[in-house]
Amino acid sequence: MYLRASDKASGVENFHSAVGSKLIRRELVTKALRQGLTPRHGLEPLQFSYAKTLEKPLVVGLLGTGRQGLRLLAAVNPAFLAVKSIADIRPSNQSRAIEALLGIYKSKGWTTGDDVKKDVRVYDAYDKLLAAAKADGLEAVIIALPSHLHAKAALAALEAGLHVFIETPMALSVADAKQVARKAAEKNRILAVGQQRHYSRIYDHALEMVRLDLLDQVHYIRSQWHVAKPEKKEDKKKAKKEVRKPDDFKIDWWQEVPADESQVKFDGYDSPEELVRWQLYEKYSGGLLAELGSQLFGAAAMFVAATPNRDPQRPYPLSVAGTGSQILRGAAGDINDHVHCIFEYAIQGYVEDKFTPPKARKKIAVQFDLIIGNEFDGYGETVLGRQGSLVLENEQKAMLFHTSDVDKSLRVVEKKNTPGAPGIEVPKDGKADEESESLGRLALQGADAGFATELEHWAFCCKPPADNKAATKPRCDAEGGLYATVLTVAAAKAVKLETRVDFKKEWFDVKSDETPDQL
Ligand SMILES: NC(=O)c1ccc[n+]([C@@H]2O[C@H](COP(=O)([O-])OP(=O)(O)OC[C@H]3O[C@@H](n4cnc5c(N)ncnc54)[C@H](O)[C@@H]3O)[C@@H](O)[C@H]2O)c1
Repeated sequence: MYLRASDKASGVENFHSAVGSKLIRRELVTKALRQGLTPRHGLEPLQFSYAKTLEKPLVVGLLGTGRQGLRLLAAVNPAFLAVKSIADIRPSNQSRAIEALLGIYKSKGWTTGDDVKKDVRVYDAYDKLLAAAKADGLEAVIIALPSHLHAKAALAALEAGLHVFIETPMALSVADAKQVARKAAEKNRILAVGQQRHYSRIYDHALEMVRLDLLDQVHYIRSQWHVAKPEKKEDKKKAKKEVRKPDDFKIDWWQEVPADESQVKFDGYDSPEELVRWQLYEKYSGGLLAELGSQLFGAAAMFVAATPNRDPQRPYPLSVAGTGSQILRGAAGDINDHVHCIFEYAIQGYVEDKFTPPKARKKIAVQFDLIIGNEFDGYGETVLGRQGSLVLENEQKAMLFHTSDVDKSLRVVEKKNTPGAPGIEVPKDGKADEESESLGRLALQGADAGFATELEHWAFCCKPPADNKAATKPRCDAEGGLYATVLTVAAAKAVKLETRVDFKKEWFDVKSDETPDQL
């Protein structure tokens, strides 16, 4: 897709206008304004239905303080989470975490790393943190370790009676994901999987538009994640001085091993280089499908689930076909640098009978492109309906267009013949709906990726206020994590075997032992 800056600006205005319109989210927007709610000051709890604060914060340990661990640490709201211990086998990442803690808990009057260490226990291997969990008073852990350790660490934590927030992917095999899900149920602990798009205000508004059929019969979803390997070698002196910004979304899996870590034998890794660049090795990351795909599969599944013409009997994909290759100088390690796959989902009227020609079976295709090579198009989703096109870019902005009218303003109006249902109109005079647009802009002010909100909501689910009677579960729980794992593993099999894989509903059933792992 190629959109000029002016097209993008027009798409963002249109999205705002839709959010602020009476037929989509004006009620929510005006409620927030009336109550004086702003981002990180009550707006998220209103939009995602949880309390503004907890009676006491959830006491947590953080396993893995690399890129994602630091990003989560930066998102910690002390009213919801008290970080009592951290673990990382890389000394450089331990130091970064201590620095981050100094920033988060300014109110504690800490000025040096030693002050932090008086209050926060620092471990190297994650199992040491788990062994001391009881003594440290932990109630829960956040797992941001390399992906091959997720299931193992989660099982140990659940066994120790801790609630778990686990980064995506939940596991690298469906059998492991099921084991984790079963353990969480057995121990009655809250397990959340880090698919932050479930807590993004941007995605939430976009999903509401799909739910209300604003686009008019969603019939295709495309999702992509395009990454570039930095061409230049890292300037080691500069890298040492640079303070890493935890909210920097740019993927960099090619970092140099710091000199003081280059001779260390890290347990569980064949070399320091494999630890620092674990994403590039199948055995640690599961390749692009697990590392990037699991997040995108979860996001696309939210759009499929929101479409009114979905087939409620078949919430799972019917099949996946794919292809993968290493075609550029590329990734290093052993992962594919290109993976493309297409999932088919049934929609209403789907016919299972094999005598009906495929073109008449009522399905929609969801397509994914995962590429290391060229960053063009970044990452995100394009959702096409008969009247509207929705584009989500880099978790940071959403754009709405009337079909391919990328330079035109649109208005949300009642659909002809369907009172109360929203539709899209391109006004002849070209005038935008300024009132809706300004309300929508206010609603999206300060919208972030959702890391802080997902952590707050998880803490809220673990420690709901006494007067909260309604059962609350994370928006991406064990079932959601298992769903993404099944899609990831099945797609990997389709790519490896160069065939189409048909999904079985038992793969998604926590209680069933059937999995696609051995295909
Ligand atoms: N939700 C998202 O948007 C998102 C984004 C990036 C990464 N992730 C996920 O987060 C996880 C971490 O990724 P990352 O990019 O932060 O990787 P990273 O390499 O930057 O961080 C992982 C950290 O774990 C540490 N570690 C490894 N083995 C350990 C052990 N046995 N004990 C203690 N510490 C150990 C490493 O030293 C490293 O600091 C991955 O599963 C990744 O898929 C999610």
